[in-house]
Amino acid sequence: MFYSDDVIEEVRSRNDIVDVISDYVKLQRKGSSYFGLCPFHSEKSPSFSVSPAKQMYYCFGCGAGGNVLTFIMEYENFTFPEALKLLADRAGMSLPEPEYSEEARRQRDLKERVREINKMAANYFYFQLHTPQGERALGYLKNRGLSDETIKRFGLGYAGQYSDMLYKYLKVKGISDQLLKESGLMQVNEKQGMYDKFWNRVMFPIMDVNNKVIGFGGRVMGDGKPKYLNSPETVIFDKSRNLYGLNYARTAKKRYMLVCEGYMDVISMHQAGFTNAVASLGTALTSQHATLLKRYTDEVILTYDSDDAGVRAALRAIPILKEAGISTRVLHMEPYKDPDEFIKALGTEAFQERIDRAENSFLFEISVLQKSYDMKDPDSKTRFFQAVAAKIAGFELEIERENYIEAITGRYQISFEGLRKMVMNVLMQGVPARKAPVRQQARPEKEDGIRKSQRLVLTWITEYPQLFDAISRYISPEDFSDELYREVASMLYTQRRQGTVNPAQIINHFTDPERQSAVAGLFNAAVKVENPKELEKAVQESIYKVVEHAIAQKGRELDPTDMKGLQELIDAKRRLQEIRRLHISL
Ligand code: GTP
Ligand code: MN
Repeated sequence: MFYSDDVIEEVRSRNDIVDVISDYVKLQRKGSSYFGLCPFHSEKSPSFSVSPAKQMYYCFGCGAGGNVLTFIMEYENFTFPEALKLLADRAGMSLPEPEYSEEARRQRDLKERVREINKMAANYFYFQLHTPQGERALGYLKNRGLSDETIKRFGLGYAGQYSDMLYKYLKVKGISDQLLKESGLMQVNEKQGMYDKFWNRVMFPIMDVNNKVIGFGGRVMGDGKPKYLNSPETVIFDKSRNLYGLNYARTAKKRYMLVCEGYMDVISMHQAGFTNAVASLGTALTSQHATLLKRYTDEVILTYDSDDAGVRAALRAIPILKEAGISTRVLHMEPYKDPDEFIKALGTEAFQERIDRAENSFLFEISVLQKSYDMKDPDSKTRFFQAVAAKIAGFELEIERENYIEAITGRYQISFEGLRKMVMNVLMQGVPARKAPVRQQARPEKEDGIRKSQRLVLTWITEYPQLFDAISRYISPEDFSDELYREVASMLYTQRRQGTVNPAQIINHFTDPERQSAVAGLFNAAVKVENPKELEKAVQESIYKVVEHAIAQKGRELDPTDMKGLQELIDAKRRLQEIRRLHISL
């Protein structure tokens, strides 16, 4: 979907950020900014700031930030075009029709129609649940401990007793057979023609992250087979890219997500207050699921069933999550089968306790491995520790290996030195093939300090126009150390040279809310200073640090035969000394 920069900027500028956010958050003026309680994490004292001058928000607590479009996307769980539409409506503007190719338009229209049909079906099922015919289904759900509120929140429904009820309903609404076929809600066979895929089942609508219904799961009430039927994949439903419950879990404000197997597990956990629970939809966890999760969290706690299938599923999921940069722990459900049963039997507090005690995924893998060895037999025991040593040797960092050796010695009968030697042996034989050692992060603390200075410089350019001359004399946009910083700096410099700085417009250039928050962070750096003199000193020091770092970087990259480059470097070093004598005045 494509809107021109001009359109986006017009929508943005016609929606004052303080006005818009005031509809959602109670704001109080403090100096030149407004403050309130951050809607993106839980807090008791306000660290969420909105700047009328910059037309941006930024939370000093959790780092959420952006312009008015970012806010709507994050708060409402909207996509960019949806946020744009809301704000255009709010300002009484009509958006131009975006330009599509013929084929793209057909595809978009088809998706739109299939979405409508799934929504109509969800409403229909929900309605059926609350008719006299739905009594048994409602009884079934209540009997499983679901409250009215939960039933409503998850939009649970009933598919009706006969196999043509939804079909007839949608026909009355004028939907063509062709579209019904695409909707995933119908089945076709030669004798009967088209009929409902789901009937006489309780219905679980599946929503995407934008709260749009994309498919259904339907459960028999009792012991019939198959227990669950699920919508097939359609133009809007891709099982490997959606997680049940993520539309709610993404705003749960927890540092980890709970990943489980089933619809009922998600719903029970949410009802018990664990609103950060999601499930992959009757399929194994895929790398796309992991990438999706990584957008919201760095840690997953697996709450799979305690049976063999659940253990196998966990063993498969761990490396997939690790690959996506997510660390995993495994929750022990014993003696219960799944989260639903556990919570029903032992309650919320006991479940929280299991979450807190969830096992590190590596130790979980080892404990599963151990089950296939006889620890009373010396040879078997040796082979077990060899297998453990081989796995530990797979960690890149010595400190990681030592920590795991220590954890293993705490659990199994082997000494630290003994296991360490076995690990060393594996490493020396080069078995298993270890990946080439990763480049050590170049002194991360120092790197963070430089970035902070760079952010401060960008923030000051927006706040103190009078500093721009001095800053731009010594620092050019290429001197910033990271792609995003360089892009933002270059836009900011251009704006400054043209006269007005507009940070919120710069944010428009990034469509991904995470990048938008990162950009907002660049304009909201702060140092603690007591008076203007200290601030002036901080400005001078930061300029110095940024330039010094850029020179060092250039030095490392310089080809020693490049005489011109060498001369430039010498000049730059001379100018660096000038900065020490630079007089900054605010
Ligand atoms: P309850 O028995 O209602 O508590 O459901 P559950 O969520 O505990 O089910 P279970 O652990 O048996 O299965 C986990 C998930 O696998 C379900 O939520 C479904 O998504 C899927 N599933 C289970 N049974 C079937 C089936 O017969 N067919 C299909 N296609 N999927 C199933
Ligand atoms: Mn269950």
